[in-house]
Amino acid sequence: MDKLEQSVGSSGMVVSESGGEAPLIDPFQRAISYLRVSVTDRCDFRCVYCMSEDMTFLPKAEVLSLEELDRLCSAFVRLGVKKLRLTGGEPLVRRNIMWLIERLGRHLKTGELNELTLTTNGSQLARYADELVAAGVKRLNVSIDTLDPHKFAAITRWGKFDKVMDGLAAAEAAGLKIKINCVALKGVNDDEVHNLVAWCGERGYDLTFIEVMPMGDIGGETRLEQYWPLSMLRAELQKRWTLNEIDYKTGGPARYVEVKETGGRIGFITPLTHNFCESCNRVRLTCTGTLYMCLGQEDAADLRQPLRASDDDQLLIAAIREAITRKPKGHDFIIDRRRRGPAVGRHMSVTGG
Ligand code: 5AD
Ligand code: SF4
Repeated sequence: MDKLEQSVGSSGMVVSESGGEAPLIDPFQRAISYLRVSVTDRCDFRCVYCMSEDMTFLPKAEVLSLEELDRLCSAFVRLGVKKLRLTGGEPLVRRNIMWLIERLGRHLKTGELNELTLTTNGSQLARYADELVAAGVKRLNVSIDTLDPHKFAAITRWGKFDKVMDGLAAAEAAGLKIKINCVALKGVNDDEVHNLVAWCGERGYDLTFIEVMPMGDIGGETRLEQYWPLSMLRAELQKRWTLNEIDYKTGGPARYVEVKETGGRIGFITPLTHNFCESCNRVRLTCTGTLYMCLGQEDAADLRQPLRASDDDQLLIAAIREAITRKPKGHDFIIDRRRRGPAVGRHMSVTGG
């Protein structure tokens, strides 16, 4: 029986029997408190900046079972991870995903975990919003790059705008707090940023703009043509809105401002033009059990092997600790004008952003 076994105490609360494990601190004294987990590399969309149309996905045998994902995530929680984010691909297209989310919810009840959240494209939210809330999820990041249904179809290739809007409505009705992730795309949604700010402001959604990152071969157009620096996006926003700097931090790379006119918050994630690595508290796990210590570097640790090698978590925990000693100081993304290829070979859907 593994040491993470949970028992139900007399109060009915789930009590952890785990002993006090030393927290994960990397060589640069950054505490690792945030784990992002890609639960599947599959998706029901084919966003142009993320995937090629004819993606080859992992064979099912390579992918960790939901039980294995639970064990892995729980080991990280035991090592001091306070925030878990499930991503994909699209996390909600994984079969039986609610089983995992409900299981992980037990760590919220014990107080070991502060937050369990998801990044989703919104397509399945009408079905899952209530169950997510019941499992303890309070906030969601929903990826929406445009409010124009035709453009939405062009960007996502396979996405249905109305379905996502229905999903958002269901999420709101269920009481979930929503943040919209919007990838800034030159010549695609650059004429919509004011609209997006107003729309999010009216609904009380936070909004984060993301620069296109050079990850994975996407076929066809290169990201040089899509790349729109957020410094320019911000300058455009300032023509219409008063943006006040605020000291709001989520532990992530986004810098936030408040829009005076709407009271809403806008975040900017600028991996290419700004270095946020000093305060990086996160690592990323793929659905095959590979741990990436940095989004912008290829170095990784295989956790599937130690996970499967024994029912006891000792080997796994040793492998996690070893991996954290290799967390690099920072990344070096560049959209290389000569090379024209991705700086990092894997797709975003592998590590979930
Ligand atoms: N560059 C920037 N953002 C990306 N996303 C996916 N691929 C890329 C990329 N190459 C975004 C998605 C989602 C988030 C998880 O990452 O739109 O909002
Ligand atoms: Fe799917 Fe998100 Fe990638 Fe779009 S960006 S294809 S929704 S994983």
